[in-house]
Amino acid sequence: MKGLILAGGHGTRLRPLTYSQQKQLIPVANKPILFYALEDLIEAGAKEIGIIVGPNKEQVRATVESENWDAGINFIYQEEPKGLAHTILVAKEFLDEPFVMYLGDNILREGIEKHAKKFEENKNDASIMLTEVENPRQFGIAELNDDGTIKRLIEKPKDPPSNLALVGIYFFKPVILEACKRIKPSWRNELEITDAIQWLIDNGYKVGWTKVEGWWKDTGKTEDILEANRLILDGIQMKNEGTAKDSRIIGRVIIEKGVEVKDSIVKGPSLIGGGCKIKNSYIGPYTSVGNDCVIEDTEIEDSIVMDNSEILGGGRIIESLIGKEVKIRRREELPNGRKLIVGDDSEIVG
Ligand code: DAU
Repeated sequence: MKGLILAGGHGTRLRPLTYSQQKQLIPVANKPILFYALEDLIEAGAKEIGIIVGPNKEQVRATVESENWDAGINFIYQEEPKGLAHTILVAKEFLDEPFVMYLGDNILREGIEKHAKKFEENKNDASIMLTEVENPRQFGIAELNDDGTIKRLIEKPKDPPSNLALVGIYFFKPVILEACKRIKPSWRNELEITDAIQWLIDNGYKVGWTKVEGWWKDTGKTEDILEANRLILDGIQMKNEGTAKDSRIIGRVIIEKGVEVKDSIVKGPSLIGGGCKIKNSYIGPYTSVGNDCVIEDTEIEDSIVMDNSEILGGGRIIESLIGKEVKIRRREELPNGRKLIVGDDSEIVG
């Protein structure tokens, strides 16, 4: 089975970060979101993976190629984000055998292995993954028949018939190409994958589904990214490869190579990337600090700080997403408790 990861689109809901970074490259627990999809596909046995890329194609390619992957990686260019079903048409040459389509902004705790196995065993033409959600208006939703088979799929319904959302991971046989060719753009002018799957159902093809048991996150918005960060950090094991002087490291904390912690408290679960310098600070639970950051005289909690950023006298920072190469410096006393979403290369001087 091949893999197709979607890493195109504009990520408008994640501005200002997505002005300079493709959204699927934003780090969660110091790893680009996209890498979770790549790992899941490789674990499930995919040997060839296509990645749909948009205008930031070079950035995605450079990030993916910075690691060695146990699969062939092909980059497939989609000029405009015209819908999930459109990406399948763009990748048609590549999709000559059954494949898994994985939205590059989704993270799934349990991986996809057992779902992939079921798809192969059941000999379905397509299989979707469903999970109960509290906000069904924000997702594709499935309505089931009394016997548990799928009756109908509706994209972001105003009046949801159930709370069973489609997770952004789909198993298809190449017949889905035919379905994608047959459907028309939706009200939002996109070729919807839900419509293509509905076409399969309406034309007598076998569409199955499996239930997601663990947590799943679509990281479309900043609060989802912070929530995904918490969920991943909840599962980390302690590791300390740096040095800590006159400091307290409490709970499950990962401190990577070259880190220097001085006169500080680091409380887990949290993660300090390689080469960071932490001085006279409190790094609170659920914080991921990227590589080569400097944090001094700052309290930070429940946040993501990306590579090469510098926070000097930041006061108390909570639930924040701080981009790469950001500089935050205090000149005067700042009020306590800030929530920040700061794009790459910004400078904030208080
Ligand atoms: O996350 C699950 C949901 O994903 C499903 O419940 C919905 O049925 C499904 O339509 C999708 O909804 P979203 O509104 O979250 O899709 P979004 O437009 O955010 O696109 C998902 C990913 O695919 C995102 O990483 C960007 C990428 N993409 C999107 C489009 C429309 C592309 O690469 N090309 C595109 O043309």
